Amino acid sequence: MYIKPFGTHCIVQVTPIHYDLTFEPIFSNFTFEGKETIDVKITKPTSTITLNSAELKIKKCTVESAGKSYVGQTILDEKNEALTIKIPGKINKTATIRIEFSGILNDRLVGFYRSQYKDKSGKTKYLATTQFEAADARRAFPCWDEPAAKATFSISIIAESNHTAISNTNQILRKKLGKKTLYKFAKTPIMSTYLVYLGVGEFEFLSTKSGKVTMRIVTTKGNSKKGKFALDLCKKLVQSYEDYFGIKYPLPKLDLIAVPDFASGAMENWGAITFRETILLFDEKTSSTQTKQYIAEVVSHELAHQWFGNLVTMEWWNDLWLNESFATFMATKFVDKFYPEWKLWDQFLEDTMNTAMGLDALHSSHPIDVKVNSPSEIREIFDAISYDKGGCVLKMLESFVTEKNFRAGLRTYLKKFSYKNAQGNDLWDEIGRAAKMPVRSMVNSWLKQTGFPLVDVQKQGSHLILSQKRFILEKKGTAKGLWEIPVVINDNGAITSKILRKKQQAIPVKSEQILVNPGRNGFYRVKYSQDIMYELKEMILQKSISHIDRWAIQNDLFALCVSSDGKTSDYLDFASSYENEDDYLTQSNVSGNLYALYHRTIDESYNSEIQQIAQRYLRNMFDSLGWDAQPGEPHTNALLRSFVIAALGKMDDEEILCEANNRFKQYLQKPDSLNPDIQDTVFSLAAWSGAVSYDKLLQLYKKAPSQEQKIRFLGALSSFKDPKLLLKTLDLSQSNDVRSQNMHIPIMRISANRYGKKILWPWLKKNWKKLRVKVGVGSPLLNRVVSSISAVADESMQGEIKQFFKKNHTPGTEMTLSQTLERIRIHSQFLKQLRAEFA
Ligand code: BES
Ligand code: ZN
Repeated sequence: MYIKPFGTHCIVQVTPIHYDLTFEPIFSNFTFEGKETIDVKITKPTSTITLNSAELKIKKCTVESAGKSYVGQTILDEKNEALTIKIPGKINKTATIRIEFSGILNDRLVGFYRSQYKDKSGKTKYLATTQFEAADARRAFPCWDEPAAKATFSISIIAESNHTAISNTNQILRKKLGKKTLYKFAKTPIMSTYLVYLGVGEFEFLSTKSGKVTMRIVTTKGNSKKGKFALDLCKKLVQSYEDYFGIKYPLPKLDLIAVPDFASGAMENWGAITFRETILLFDEKTSSTQTKQYIAEVVSHELAHQWFGNLVTMEWWNDLWLNESFATFMATKFVDKFYPEWKLWDQFLEDTMNTAMGLDALHSSHPIDVKVNSPSEIREIFDAISYDKGGCVLKMLESFVTEKNFRAGLRTYLKKFSYKNAQGNDLWDEIGRAAKMPVRSMVNSWLKQTGFPLVDVQKQGSHLILSQKRFILEKKGTAKGLWEIPVVINDNGAITSKILRKKQQAIPVKSEQILVNPGRNGFYRVKYSQDIMYELKEMILQKSISHIDRWAIQNDLFALCVSSDGKTSDYLDFASSYENEDDYLTQSNVSGNLYALYHRTIDESYNSEIQQIAQRYLRNMFDSLGWDAQPGEPHTNALLRSFVIAALGKMDDEEILCEANNRFKQYLQKPDSLNPDIQDTVFSLAAWSGAVSYDKLLQLYKKAPSQEQKIRFLGALSSFKDPKLLLKTLDLSQSNDVRSQNMHIPIMRISANRYGKKILWPWLKKNWKKLRVKVGVGSPLLNRVVSSISAVADESMQGEIKQFFKKNHTPGTEMTLSQTLERIRIHSQFLKQLRAEFA
């Protein structure tokens, strides 16, 4: 059994107060030596102490208490990642534990691990870094590795003299120690173990100051200049967050560290945030608009955690979503303040909300608030429910209680629980108090049950009849659920707000022009009756309703086709009202839906009929976007352009393919000639049409100087039509030429390539063991790989897929697997319906 979380869950006799830690990484054999002194508090006399420890060798252990010193006998329980210390005598009140240990600088990107890169001269270099969330600090030092076991930390690092050491706080001492250098860092505030950071390597820095806080970008040699965008934005964001939360950033320094090998995207270690290189480094010449935007969002997300998560921490991982959904929501809110022209709230709807609804419409989804115990269970809930649905629920709550009350409640919550732990209800209560509204039960109806509602809207005389039921894509079994829905109705300009608590409710209205959920603040879908739809179509044509509402109406209609609640021919008819649409959000969704329909039906007899419609719409968009960015054009054009060109190219639009090849040739002569925003697309289309040889692309991949550029070529290597070449790329993904952190990229790209459909699943089966070794069991990347199967399988393969994973059990992918199987059934269900309509 996994050691039960303490705090509220069970009474523990021994709790940590302060850790004094010294680490010495040894690169010659990829190990480290460690020494720790832990001051603990004891509530009941005891002769045993149990804490977490994994993959560590314990060399020495003594315990001092009440003037006596004992040699501790240590017993390691590998399975439970626990270390028990037995003391020959009872200790009480306070004690000091001293442990000497050693460990491995592993290459699995968890705990204290090594990362590898080549310097300018091509020499291989290593750095050591940490990733402790959720439960991997125990791989670096014995500790109470749970979020509620907060303590202070004094950290020292002994490093080779050509290296620099970094930790959470500012350096207070640096001195020679033989051939090596000793670094000591200031004592941290009270914090959780999962936020501790250690970094050692040949770093380069780009620094600035914001008030008393030193802010730095940390990179490998030669890259720090590319941190300028993130650093400038970081400074602005921190000031803005301080202002919003009413609490100053509590540490004297803040580092943003680019790590060449990194399992997730970024990690909010207090004062020492780590990132993938592609999510921190921006190069004016070669980086895309998408990259710039993503850097901003991720920096903003991790900065939000410095308060929400680090200063106030969830009691246990069941409230992980609170951390992540909050950071997701805040990330958009704060970048939007500085870059309103990026239309991030619109993108939030298209990306975050659609992703959340896509997953939450599955029987196999899960409630936001979920019981978790083991580390592998914890790892699995870092998903679109925790991040995206949670983010949407917060947005809905904010619009329900108003921005002002939301912020006031938040401020009290953060003050009250600073340096402590809290639960979801603590936050709802503060927001409820600020708003003078009972928020708890409303919010809990969205947190405690799986799914979200579909609100059916009918007009009966002078009333609207609203009814709710769970929106589910697969027509099978029953789907229960009753939500407290904050419904907003736009009745020809007059706004009514109501909480729909019952299955059905009548609401008086005055006009025929009815719009439910304007601005799509509520996390639910709407199904209108025919007569209301008729009115709405007029309003769309005249653009008399907002761009978000125009987007939402067809977005819901399309979802109803996928769930077999509506006819796709009706959607296609309705989509014609969007021909003069010039807004990013709607254009992006309509074109995405049409392309998805084309792609889904690729082997169907009626595919050309759908292709015609999709191609016409995309062509129309392309005619106004063109190949080249126009001065002063909207920021979002860059995002649309690459999608539209890629989609048309993959529909084998001759003109597009021809121009893509021209541009590719030109790029080979003069790399600056090709706008970074369309490089991925142009490289991929050159491969698609066979205008570039595999070896040439592979050479470009190997030579690419930045990871961002490398990934573009990796995408292109996954875009050939010849399955033999795609197999080569799949094998490449497992070789040393692809970092383990990127190995899912070719797999996912090939799953979306229709010529990869037949080969991917057999290849996965053959290579599954290798894959597991490459990323390590329990890696979240394996979930991405499992999900990709839904794009290449049909219903008939279900049994085989289930069987395979039964034999090759992969802990941490169970939930993703059932979601993938459900998606496969939904695709088949949708195809059946399409056949009935079009074949
Ligand atoms: N706390 C997470 C990082 C994390 C994820 C740690 C999973 C352990 C397991 C971090 O704040 C985060 O959310 N990172 C995102 C980036 C993003 C969505 C802005 C990630 O890594 O995907
Ligand atoms: Zn996060």
